[in-house]
Amino acid sequence: MTSQISFLMCPPDHYDVDYVINPWMEGNIHKSSRDRAVEQWEQLHHILKKHAIVDLVKPQKGWPDMVFTANAGLVLGKTVVLSRFLHKERQGEEPYFKQWFEENGYTVHELPKDLPFEGAGDALLDREGRWLWAGYGFRSELDAHPYLAKWLDIEVLSLRLIDERFYHLDTCFCPLKNGYLLYYPSAFDSYSNRLIEMRVTQQKRIAIAEADAVNFACNAVNIDHIVVMNKTSEDLKAHLADAGFQVIETPLNEFLKAGGAAKCLTLRVTEPVREEVHANVSVESRILRIEGHLLDSGLINRALDLIIDNGGSFQVLNFLLGEQRQSTSAAEVKVSAPSHEVMESIITYLIDLGAVDLPEDERDAKLEAVTEDGVAPDDFYVTTIYPTEVRLNGEWVKVQNQRMDGALAITQTPNGVLAQCKILRNLEVGDHVVVDVQGIRTIRKTESREQRNSQEFSFMSAGVSSERRVELVVEQVAWELRKIRDTGGKVVVTAGPVVIHTGGGDHLAQLMREGYVQALLAGNAIAVHDIEQAIMGTSLGMDMQRGIAVRGGHRHHLKVINTICRYGSIAKAVEAGVIQSGVMYECVRNHIPFCLAGSIRDDGPLPDTQMDLIKAQTEYAELLQGADMVLMLSSMLHSIGVGNMTPAGVKIVCVDINPAVVTKLSDRGSIESVGVVTDVGLFLSLLVQQLDNLTSPYIFKAG
Ligand SMILES: NC(=O)c1ccc[n+]([C@@H]2O[C@H](COP(=O)([O-])OP(=O)(O)OC[C@H]3O[C@@H](n4cnc5c(N)ncnc54)[C@H](O)[C@@H]3O)[C@@H](O)[C@H]2O)c1
Repeated sequence: MTSQISFLMCPPDHYDVDYVINPWMEGNIHKSSRDRAVEQWEQLHHILKKHAIVDLVKPQKGWPDMVFTANAGLVLGKTVVLSRFLHKERQGEEPYFKQWFEENGYTVHELPKDLPFEGAGDALLDREGRWLWAGYGFRSELDAHPYLAKWLDIEVLSLRLIDERFYHLDTCFCPLKNGYLLYYPSAFDSYSNRLIEMRVTQQKRIAIAEADAVNFACNAVNIDHIVVMNKTSEDLKAHLADAGFQVIETPLNEFLKAGGAAKCLTLRVTEPVREEVHANVSVESRILRIEGHLLDSGLINRALDLIIDNGGSFQVLNFLLGEQRQSTSAAEVKVSAPSHEVMESIITYLIDLGAVDLPEDERDAKLEAVTEDGVAPDDFYVTTIYPTEVRLNGEWVKVQNQRMDGALAITQTPNGVLAQCKILRNLEVGDHVVVDVQGIRTIRKTESREQRNSQEFSFMSAGVSSERRVELVVEQVAWELRKIRDTGGKVVVTAGPVVIHTGGGDHLAQLMREGYVQALLAGNAIAVHDIEQAIMGTSLGMDMQRGIAVRGGHRHHLKVINTICRYGSIAKAVEAGVIQSGVMYECVRNHIPFCLAGSIRDDGPLPDTQMDLIKAQTEYAELLQGADMVLMLSSMLHSIGVGNMTPAGVKIVCVDINPAVVTKLSDRGSIESVGVVTDVGLFLSLLVQQLDNLTSPYIFKAG
């Protein structure tokens, strides 16, 4: 023994793998050898006794994991925060450890009953005593961290564990003397890795590879320059030697079967207090109210998953279940996050999910003035496609011009306060912009299972349709188109040149002729290839009748561009009788407004193509106003642009041969959008056929 450091250990008299509460235990029930375990434990005990004092707590029958004393509690000075085990399989250890601490003169703090925290397994002091690293994600709750800060008067840095093999912080993280840190970065989420990198310089961080991590190299005991562990690679040993540490390996594989090694088998009970260090914790909690068809629409699951996936934790404080099938439910959920930054991102996601407000904490939105045209304050709230309300002077005000990726600008007008979505470049000095996430809510249509199943677009909510469902989708789109046309609604089409190449041009032209399309948003290419087909019978040099390449056909599209340039515009070429059919012809003849937005790859361009993209975006947005449906036909570029400008509530049908494009475009989290993975030519021909078959005008379904 060379120092005054003391450890608490518990002999493995009753040690065994009796149950499965972590992935290491799986397949190992009663597979560990008691004799070998005793031998390995004694070897560790022997090594530690050479360098420190080791106290023992009496093992208790029926509590096989008591051997892992790291989970007895967390000690700092003469204060201990007792563990509250998550699993009932270990909860029986609590009174024995409590008794030992009390008998040895410690002040014992106990957490509320429903707040799990597994002691020094999930909370590790920086070896210089500057702060406490505390883990959460599997065994300990984030909400325990503020208690640790308060009772131990120390700064707590919360780290989220994301790999269930490393379910306790001490399985993948080991602060060492002189500010060094041995750790396995992949066990943590990116926010936690950033936090670690902010606190520990690169020279002091010893990041280990998976092979060492699964040998529990981080589950090590550090006494001055000695590091005791189960097993290490030569590389890691050399790295530690460079940092001034001597590794002592001692096999502990019998304990690995239960998910523990050297550190788990010990609890350091002498941890000096640094007088100048005081409590500080950045954990934030907020109580949110979520309402809707929480169970049958899966809203509550989505909300809780979002909280966890984004680095927070939650507690459902109460849940009011709607008793009738049609009535909604309400839940009050306490959300905790390791920092304000993480809390903001969680709340942003929850706002997107639906009406979320803070019952005890109703506050107005925070506003900040725009000080430079076209630039928002740093912390501005980024808008979504969902109808949004913002709380100003105690009143919820509906936001105008809803769109994605804008800022919420608030202006005082003679008629009252105006809240509207503005894209950043349109912000002006004098505007006030909503910052942070308070006082904002989105109104989502409540969707019960029944509604999902009974609406016309019902089955489409299943998301992307596969080939065999295409016909069914087409039938429903046809009904929808007929209904919109017959009720004076608006359908906007966005389309790429593939429509023409696949022979869909004639069908799209027919839809236009028959009044099913009220605006076209596209690029240079579809217009060029459509006119090429109208004038020369080819599309990109291919004969559209015979499906073969025409000699010199690759020049056709340039000749066409030249012809339209001579006439000055597509409309003038139509008037002159040069263009007599096709999509663009129908646009001109039927007064269907169109915008052709330019791009870097455009040949020509046509005189009609708007090469000023800011103007093109504005024209797109104007043409989208009041749309009931957007038909997106095989143009990723233009469809993504349109998707961002289209508020929720507008039906979207996205047709593309690539499932990834369809998923991206139709994933708007609402029942109003559907993706169809198929050839666009085939889709359009089926659609036209279906519409021809619909003899009677649209009849509203019952209900
Ligand atoms: N000659 C020209 O001027 C010229 C030529 C090509 C493109 N462009 C311009 O480039 C920009 C992007 O063009 P884009 O919209 O064609 O490309 P894009 O890559 O944005 O989208 C094409 C989409 O069509 C899909 N697709 C391919 N074959 C399909 C099929 N048979 N059925 C259904 N979907 C199919 C692809 O998966 C892809 O998502 C546009 O602005 C366009 O005008 C100009």
